[in-house]
This record gives sequence, structure tokens and C-alpha cells, in this order.
Amino acid sequence: MDGDVFEKITRDDFIHGQFPENFMWGAASAAYQIEGAWNEDGKGESIWDHYCHLEPSPIRNHDTGDVACNSYHYYKKDVEILKELGVGFYRFSLSWPRILPNGTLSCINEKGIDYYNKLIDELVSSGVQPMITLYHWDLPQTLQTHYGGWLNDGIQDFFNDYARLCFQRFGDRVKYWITLNEPWEVAIPGYCRGETAPGHRDMAKGAYIAAKNLILSHAKAWHTYDKEFRATQHGYISITIDSSWPESFTASNEDQMASERFLAFHLDLFAHPIFVNGDFSNIVQHQVLKHCQAAGLESRLPRFSEEERKIVKGSHDFFGLNFYRCQLVKHKSSLNGMKTPQSFDKDRETEEFLHSSWPRTDATWLRMTPFGMRRILKFIKENYGNPRIIITENGCTQAGEHDAIDENALHDYFRVDWYRRYLNEVLKAIKLDGVDVAGYMAWSLMDNMEWNDGYSLRFGLYRVDFEDPQRKRTPKLSARYYKKVIQDNGFLA
Ligand code: NOJ
Repeated sequence: MDGDVFEKITRDDFIHGQFPENFMWGAASAAYQIEGAWNEDGKGESIWDHYCHLEPSPIRNHDTGDVACNSYHYYKKDVEILKELGVGFYRFSLSWPRILPNGTLSCINEKGIDYYNKLIDELVSSGVQPMITLYHWDLPQTLQTHYGGWLNDGIQDFFNDYARLCFQRFGDRVKYWITLNEPWEVAIPGYCRGETAPGHRDMAKGAYIAAKNLILSHAKAWHTYDKEFRATQHGYISITIDSSWPESFTASNEDQMASERFLAFHLDLFAHPIFVNGDFSNIVQHQVLKHCQAAGLESRLPRFSEEERKIVKGSHDFFGLNFYRCQLVKHKSSLNGMKTPQSFDKDRETEEFLHSSWPRTDATWLRMTPFGMRRILKFIKENYGNPRIIITENGCTQAGEHDAIDENALHDYFRVDWYRRYLNEVLKAIKLDGVDVAGYMAWSLMDNMEWNDGYSLRFGLYRVDFEDPQRKRTPKLSARYYKKVIQDNGFLA
């Protein structure tokens, strides 16, 4: 007990020191959240365009990404603020339907390609390196309507075609590629719980079928780059995986095992196949089978063939991590014999919640828990072969920020504190635990369309005035703070 208390007191201690030389400092965004121009210049509809236009709207305040930050027209402003921040990298995503309006090579939208070429050129000539995410959730609607999107294994080849085209057209200037952003959020809220686009609900199988297709799509695109482009383009390609860090609710064996299961069904659901052995972990296989057998069914978990396992295993050049928060995790039994409802959420046998003492943000799901950053980084080092890690997202909303006016809107002390604390945990992971962290991308460069929460949540280092047709971007205090950390390459004594 004493040990626990002592550990909590020292856990948040601040250390001074610098990040490794050539540490990759950056800021991040995503196409649907910033571009707008949803139907301009030949762009096809995406599942998020479609979802936000549903009646009644599933989005807070009926917001849409129709205009967003209007980066399609104001991308030069984005590059300006990136320069002002002093970052070396900009992580942004390509809109698949802007490049391939119906998702396939049958129609290539050159105007969409021109847009990204202009953005990339502007970045490179400004000394900011592009880091491109190929898929940040905006699937061409045609692929959803006609094929069922990520539930159809045909998507693996569609994605591979799209990826190859992007390597061909942009790879001369782009050295960092991320195939998929947060596949967990695609598979579970998107195709299992039906809470985000495309809103497909299949609690029993949706998550696993989508997960397998996402993993194979990633792996095939990785091999395409590896075989056809790496020798001439000399870049790196991987996937960005997100996860909360589980803190056991109590020290009981039961809750600790629950924490292990939590990770197995979140971080490890994607990391295990890609970084360990080409297949879902034993924990996942065991849990799903157990629940199926209890109802007299065969396992719902799709398996990887031997050939698929070979393609998947090792398909990474670094570990892309999006990390935001800890969750408290408790054991929750969900076996009721024949009555067991078949569901991804029941398979885990966990219950999660947030500790009331963790500082709040504007998002109900997010509280400030920096210590989880160091823990998850160490876990990745120890469980996935000490990979080079790039933190591709981390950041926050601030309680009350949305409605703040005048100067108060820009004085985001909470966010300053957030970056200071989370970055310090990254530094500790590097210095004290020997974790190979190569970079950090702040989420987000500027306020944007926060999916189901619309514009009500602001994650930006820059405030965006959504009432202003010019979508003026203004630095918050956190932008100045982040700039200073970058200049010092850490925390000087
Ligand atoms: C992760 C997602 O990749 C990003 O799109 C989102 O805005 C942030 N989390 C904040 O929720």
C-alpha cells in the first residue's frame, strides 16, 4: 500500500532534459476534419459526407465537414502556421474519394491529385516534411454502398490500388506514410457498434471482420511500397494504432487480468498480428471461442491463413501510436450460457471508466492522465520488439474552451499543461526506460470537425474562427509553448 502511494507521488515528477537529436516534431490533421470542399472539383462522396448529411443528423448541432477549416482553399494558411510553429513535420491525410471518386482506379480525379501536389510542394519548399496518412476514416461512399466497405475482403485490393497510385504520384517527395489511422475506431464504432460512419451495427462479427480486412489492407499496401517503391523512394511506411492505457481498478488478480484483456482487445488487436506473429493473440482467440461455445456456436473470429500470416507479420517500419488517456479497468463476467449475447464488448469481459480525480476536458471520454503515456510506450517496447515509435497524435480539448470569448479563448493554460506533462512522460520513457521514440505529432494543428462532436470540441494549437468565411487561424498560448519546446528540443533546466 505504501508503495502505491509513493509511486503515485513520484509518478508525475517533472524531469529536465532534451529529446534525441533529430527528434521529429510535428502537428497533425485529417482530410475530412479540415478540408471542406466536400463536393468540389470532382471529389466523390465519402462515408462521413454521407453520414453527416443523414436526417436526422447523428452529429452534434447538425454540424458537417462541408466547409470545415476550408483547407482545400486555404492550405497556404496551414503551411504558414506550421512554419510559425517551427515544426519539421506535418501529418495530414489524403481523402480517398477526392483522388478516386468511386474508390477505384476506373476514375482518377486529377484535380484532387493537383491539390495534394500543391500542398506537398508548399510544405517541402517551406522546410516542413509531409507525413501522409492514406486513410483517416473517409471511405468512398461507393465502396460502402456497393461492397459493404471494410466488411468485404475485396477492399484489400481497392486499398492497395489507391495506395500504389499515391506512392506513384507523391512518393518522390513523401518519406513517411501511414496506411491507416486508428483501425480500432474504424472497426468497433464504425462496423460493430454502429456509432460512427458508416453506422453499421453488427455486435457479434462486425469488429472482427473489419479488423481482419483492415490488417490485410495495411499489410498489402506495406508490401507494395516495400517491393515497388522503397528502393527508389527511400521512405518509411507503417500503421497508426490507438489505445487507452488500462489501469487496474484494484490490485486483484481478476482486475489485472481484465486489464490484460483490455489491451488484448485494443492496442494488441492490431499490433499483435502486425508486430508479433501475423495472427490475433491467444487471449482474443480464447475469449471469443469461450463465448461462442457457451452458446453452442463455432468461433466468430475470422482466422488468417498461413499465407496471410506471412504477409501481415512484420509489415511495419515503425510503430505509429495515437495516445490520449488512461481508463480504469475492472473485471466483468459476461458468460450466461446459452443466453450469452454474442458481442465484441462481451468478449472482453471488462468494464471501463474514468477516475473522478483525473482532470476533465471538454470531451466526456477524455481526462488528463499523462502517466499512461510512459506506461504504454514501455509496454510497446517490451512487447513488440523494441520498435521505433512515432507518436502520431496526442492532444486535448479544454473544459469551457468552446464558448470562451476574446482573449480567454486563446489562453489555454490547461492545454499548455497537457503538452508539458505528456511530453515529459515521453522524455522519461526515452531517458529512463530506453524506449525508442523518434517523433511526436500534436493533435491538432488547429480546431476542426471533431467527428460526431462536430465543432463543439476544439483540439487545436490554433483557434479557428468558424464564423469567419476566411476561417482565420490564431495561435493559442499552447502554440507558443509547443514552439518553445521544439526550439529547446525539450525542457531546459
Ligand atoms: C483520434 C483521431 O485520429 C482524430 O481524428 C480525432 O480528432 C482525435 N482522436 C481526437 O478525438
